[in-house]
Amino acid sequence: MSSAKEVKPAKNIKGTVELPADKSISHRAALFAALHESTSHISNFSAAADPQSTLACLRQLGIEIEAKGQDLSIKGKGRYGFNEPEEPLDCGNSGTTMRLLSGIVGGAGVNCTLTGDESLSARTMKRIIDPLRAMGIDIYGREDNFAPLKISRKDPVKALHFELPIPSAQLKSCVLLAGLYGKNTTSVIETIPSRDHTERLLQLPIELKKDRKIIGSDNSMVIPEQSYRIPNDFSAAAFWLVAGSIHKQGSVRLTDVGINPSRTAALKILQKMGAEISMVKENREAIEPFANLHITGSTLQPVTITEKLVPNLIDEIPILAIAMLFAEGTSTIRGAEELRHKETDRLSALSDMLKKAGASFKEMEDGLEIHGDPKFVPRPASYNSYHDHRIAMSAAILASKGSEPSKVKGGECTDISYPGFWEDLKMLTN
Ligand code: S3P
Repeated sequence: MSSAKEVKPAKNIKGTVELPADKSISHRAALFAALHESTSHISNFSAAADPQSTLACLRQLGIEIEAKGQDLSIKGKGRYGFNEPEEPLDCGNSGTTMRLLSGIVGGAGVNCTLTGDESLSARTMKRIIDPLRAMGIDIYGREDNFAPLKISRKDPVKALHFELPIPSAQLKSCVLLAGLYGKNTTSVIETIPSRDHTERLLQLPIELKKDRKIIGSDNSMVIPEQSYRIPNDFSAAAFWLVAGSIHKQGSVRLTDVGINPSRTAALKILQKMGAEISMVKENREAIEPFANLHITGSTLQPVTITEKLVPNLIDEIPILAIAMLFAEGTSTIRGAEELRHKETDRLSALSDMLKKAGASFKEMEDGLEIHGDPKFVPRPASYNSYHDHRIAMSAAILASKGSEPSKVKGGECTDISYPGFWEDLKMLTN
């Protein structure tokens, strides 16, 4: 049952948060551990609903997973070790599960169907259907675009030389994972960088040219064991980085946060805006680097975000829009049309939120123009989450700056990436 969460005005925001584990890395750690030939031990695996959907699908495919709290042992069975599932694989709300798993089951030739919830069933899958078909995989979707996806394969996997038409890490990963089943090398060409967890964790060969990166995969490549501790989620950290900076006396400490450069463009943007964020205990040697972050109340300046930067802060745009509301002047986000294809149309959801708050802004086809004011006080409102976790959390941080309580409808959807979000908000604002 959907319920509304109440957010009271916060006088302050202060404390140390134990963030959820990184969602993108959790999905990949589990999937790649299943492809490895023996057991991987993963610690700090995310308890959020999306990565748990990936685990449930792997179990349906016959992979044994032992969980002790957030520590997992996954008995990998190699690239071809999957059973044909009796029931459709339910990817829940998770685009990463559906798109990455399609590459794997398609490559492995597992006869199966992938389904998802209402939101996932409305998200385009054409972007993966076309390249997977070109690789010889039989993949069919509703209207040749949407889940349920029916996947099987009769012919050997054909190598593909694929220049990414959109800078999407899910699409890049899907093609590279299917490529792991081909005799000849599949190469994915990336001109605008997106998150690189797949390349890192699978240790795929990379050729760096002046204006492009070429990543390869084929069936001779050994899948490494996936035994490591997953850092905490930078995308979850971003909510507190903004909350800590827009509250005058804010002081928030975040521990073991993933600082992979392909994920942290929002940190650079916030620093450019004048946010006082310090980084301590950096560990850049780890396969996925991490550090502790400390943010204090700051005076923010406006900023412009352009297309090239969008993939490295795609999930942080909703909360960056909230930061922009409190900057001294006009900020702009352009080249972010992809936000219309997320769990909901995030540009339109943001417009609805800003309108309800009484903000001054303009929605564009590919972004937003936001007229900020450090003295802005959002009107009390009943915000709609559109069942989108990042919209719900952004609305909550916005509402914390109000002078009266507000509501976030369907607020429990934060469990998709951040179980415990509402408790953390309460703890920080008490
Ligand atoms: C993700 C990639 C991004 C991001 C999503 C997670 C991933 O999606 O928005 O939350 O783990 O690869 P796209 O690849 O569609 O941009």
